[in-house]
Amino acid sequence: MKIAILPGDGIGPEITKQAVDVLKALNVGMELVEAPIGGAGYEKFGDPLPDSTLDLAIKSDAILLGAVGDWKYDALPRDKRPEQGLLRIRKGLNLFANLRPAILYPELVGASSLKSEIVSNLDIMIVRELTGDIYFGQPRGIHTNENGEREGINTMRYSESEIKRIAHVAFQIAMKRSKKLCSIDKANVLETTELWRQIMIDLSKEYLEVELTHMYVDNAAMQLIKNPKQFDVLVTGNIFGDILSDEASMLTGSIGMLPSASLDSNNKGMYEPSHGSAPDIAGKNIANPLATILSLAMMFRYTFNDEKNANKIESAVKKTLSHGFRTADIYSAGDKKVSCSEMGEAVVASLN
Ligand code: IPM
Ligand code: MG
Repeated sequence: MKIAILPGDGIGPEITKQAVDVLKALNVGMELVEAPIGGAGYEKFGDPLPDSTLDLAIKSDAILLGAVGDWKYDALPRDKRPEQGLLRIRKGLNLFANLRPAILYPELVGASSLKSEIVSNLDIMIVRELTGDIYFGQPRGIHTNENGEREGINTMRYSESEIKRIAHVAFQIAMKRSKKLCSIDKANVLETTELWRQIMIDLSKEYLEVELTHMYVDNAAMQLIKNPKQFDVLVTGNIFGDILSDEASMLTGSIGMLPSASLDSNNKGMYEPSHGSAPDIAGKNIANPLATILSLAMMFRYTFNDEKNANKIESAVKKTLSHGFRTADIYSAGDKKVSCSEMGEAVVASLN
């Protein structure tokens, strides 16, 4: 098995190193090959997704990614910016199914900004479509319109087949959990999501055991804060999923705890923390590596079908938390405050 390691920018390299150390400690004999993406790709090859990186990703069985982006690239033309590297690799590998679990570890209940009774034992799964929607829809751009003023255009669009394949993923995940699926849309205003809702309803006939409900995205944003435990599996499009998954992450205390998997139809996947590159704290060795380490656990579960190693990593993370180790983002008085690398070492030490 071959894993592409794409550390990226900002805190990406520090957190990725900790996950790679965990992977090495598992002694599973995988070949690891590193390549640049995002700003790092631009620096080295003038391209946020260099051909050699895409090629490596195509030839690998799975990809572990840190994060991309830095303010210093904001003035570059859009196609050279780090985020394009991420969007192009998702699209290039057809990684349409993005799984973002939001799990609150009991030790972190005090780190959430919500009252503990609202978030305790929270365990929800957001299934976000990742290669369509307004992120990729054409036409797009900034041009001058007939009145001579500038106009920005993006297009929200989903084809039936795109909706169907993410719906199947979500229904199947719901089948393995509590058989409750909530589809998030804005069907009262947007035709794209009116179609989304119709297709969800059609497909629910193939999954009679799953209780399908629907919610408008604005209400969902509110309900996630008001009563998050009403949800189990949520399925939604690319842009709504981007926003709701950041919101859900804060229920768990820190976005530094949230892993993600981005899968194609054969469960080949790219694994990355749900958070960004946090350039403000890059290089300081204070970032939380747990989201990346937990993404590695998802890699074992979804791509390698290896529940044993997935559980081993997740148990090690739980043990580390129960021993009181906390990076700055989840620290409260009385905990053992540790650096990014110390947290990684503590997880490695808890593996056995
Ligand atoms: C995410 C990020 C990306 C996205 C950015 C960096 C392009 O916010 O993975 O959620 O919008 O998908
Ligand atoms: Mg996002």
